Amino acid sequence: MTSGIAKKENKIQAGFTLWFTGLSGAGKSTISNILEKKIKDLGLKIEILDGDIVRTHLSKGLGFSKEDRDTNIRRIGYVASLLSRNGVISITAAISPYKDIRNEVREMHENFVEVYAKCPLEIVEKRDVKGLYKKARAGEIPQFTGVSDPYEEPENPEITVETNKETPEESANKILNWLKENNFIEG
Ligand code: ADX
Repeated sequence: MTSGIAKKENKIQAGFTLWFTGLSGAGKSTISNILEKKIKDLGLKIEILDGDIVRTHLSKGLGFSKEDRDTNIRRIGYVASLLSRNGVISITAAISPYKDIRNEVREMHENFVEVYAKCPLEIVEKRDVKGLYKKARAGEIPQFTGVSDPYEEPENPEITVETNKETPEESANKILNWLKENNFIEG
């Protein structure tokens, strides 16, 4: 079976990295999981590198200072680049709040697609799926992104999904359509 990936002239099976960025609770993991299923159903190889999970092994022990977040993102970027250059689709789902490091990992890649999971702070805070915003407001979690730590919005992401206006399924379809239209995945 031939792969459905056809990016870069006629290079079959060129992998790529789909790099999510966005606030905690914006829907990065949820959309990634929907996409994973859809992409697997196309018979393609895919891995998800989720910040919450990576922090239990590869980045175990790292905290949330800028330095530690940068280290976390560089590690995720490095693994994603290894996978994608070997024909695997890597989806990363980490807040990755700093623009400079996102651009640094972009440079590590041949095929890089930045996806901004955009959602206003008031909405993610209202959802508060993990109850962390409440704790952050109460001063129990220092340096919490969006509350007491910066989040730098991407300026030119390839794709923006507005998760306060779209369902996760709609966002996943929007991304999949973009990937097909831009020949990352065969339609
Ligand atoms: S990143 O900044 O290094 O990209 P990452 O995506 O790995 O962050 O981890 C974010 C997750 O860690 C959040 O979804 C949340 O569950 C948890 N978390 C714990 N403390 C913090 C904090 N201070 N800021 C943001 N997220 C935190």
